[in-house]
Formats: sequence, structure tokens, C-alpha cells
Amino acid sequence: MQNKTFSTLFIAQNLIQLSAVDSTNNYLKLMLSKSEPLAEGTVILADDQFAGRGQQGNTWISQAGLNLTFSIYLRPSFLSIVHQFQLNTAVSVGLVNALKHYVSEGIKIKWPNDIYFHNYKIGGVLIENTISSGNLRSSIIGIGVNVNQREFNRSLVKVASSIGRILHADVDLLELLEKICHSIEVQYLKLRAGKSKDQLKDYLENLYQFGKASNFKSDNKIFEGYIVGVSEEGKLLVDHGGQQCSYGFKEIEFLDNN
Ligand code: BTN
Repeated sequence: MQNKTFSTLFIAQNLIQLSAVDSTNNYLKLMLSKSEPLAEGTVILADDQFAGRGQQGNTWISQAGLNLTFSIYLRPSFLSIVHQFQLNTAVSVGLVNALKHYVSEGIKIKWPNDIYFHNYKIGGVLIENTISSGNLRSSIIGIGVNVNQREFNRSLVKVASSIGRILHADVDLLELLEKICHSIEVQYLKLRAGKSKDQLKDYLENLYQFGKASNFKSDNKIFEGYIVGVSEEGKLLVDHGGQQCSYGFKEIEFLDNN
């Protein structure tokens, strides 16, 4: 990929492009462990990420040269740990807004931060924070977006898609990266300015299956319910039979799209 200067204030002004790396999150973590200071907004982008990490210890598989796999370094020291889900909200809204420039209908955030096109996953986010005195100190925002990859292996073909597959056309990777970085920067600055309530509203407006009857599994029980919101700590709020329950990340599974 060629070098490019982005029209952002700070995100990706320092863009480090690697031809191959195990994981851009790992690479950024290693850079941060060295003593030299690193500019906030630094982005590590890899053409080939050969051991990408996903949520819950999963792997993130991405065909070399066809997709976006990158990590953004932020320092959200204004956020207390209690409010760390707000960073997730800001990043998810930023990402979804950028993707809507390409695909105007059907792009959603699947709680907590998967990016879906209808029932197909096209992107994911892995945020890794460090903490200092009850606040966030550094944040590595790892983002994978399926862009120009058209073929997925058997186990993924029913659940994964890409922008290129949706549009039947290839997309310029650096142009998309610039849009995403710009859009996340807008949301991050809003968060820093104390606009988290507006962001939660945007997040819920873009939330997959929000307010729609859906089938869930929790604690080995299958039930129908509908998502009514997300709590301050980021728990999913589901109404079933008039009763509202909250679920943490590993405590509930969506059944409809699997
Ligand atoms: C998920 O949906 O499980 C999250 C996937 C996050 C993948 C990205 S790709 C860039 C960054 N580096 C990683 O190793 N993971 C994230």
C-alpha cells in the first residue's frame, strides 16, 4: 500500500504500515512497552496479519492484502473504568458511520461491537485497555474489516461477508481506512467533550435486533425476548415476558443468526 496523509487531526497522522505481523494489537502493545513516547492516534496497519486475535480468545482470520487489519492507540485518561463501555460505544458508532458511506442500508452494530450486514459479520473490534488510578490510561483499538475478500472458508461462509461481496466491487483500502479513522476521531472527540448520552442513542439506533423479537440462549435456557438497551457498564438489557434482565458479554448468545 502507498503512503498517504490523512485529513484527520491526530488519528493516523502517524501511520505505520507493516507488510506482515502476528497481530497489530500485539505490535502496538510492544511499542508501548518500550520507553519512547508514542503519539496518541498512532495507527498500525498490516497487509498480512497472520495471527490476529478476536474477542473471547478467538482468532481473527483475514486474507493478506485484501482487508483492513489495524490498531489505533488512544489515551482516554478522562474516562473512569466504570465508564469504559463509552469508548466501545464511540468506536462502534464511528466505525458504523464510516461503513455507511459505502453500504447505505443494513449495516448494524451487534452488541457489544461486532459489525454486521444483515446476518453476516463484516467487522470486529478488540479493545485492550490499561488502567491507572481508576481511569483508563492507554487503549489499543484493534479493528478488522472484511473489505475485498470474496471467498470465506466453509466454516465462515454462512456467517461472514465483506464490503466487496456486498457491493460486487473492490474498495480502496486506504480511502476506507481514512474514512474510518476520521469517523472514529469525530466520535472520540465527542466522547471527550462529554457527549456520551448522544452516542449511546446513536449506538442503540444502530444496534442489531434492537426492539425486535429475537431468540436468545442464556444459562442453558432458550427464550424469546427483545433488546431494550445497554446499561452503563455495557450489559445487554433484554426484556422477556415483561421482565428486564441484564447480561454480560459471555452470559448470552443470539440464536437467530447462527
Ligand atoms: C472480534 O470480532 O472478535 C474482534 C476482532 C478484532 C480483529 C482486529 S484485526 C486488528 C487487530 N489485531 C488483532 O489481533 N485483532 C484486532
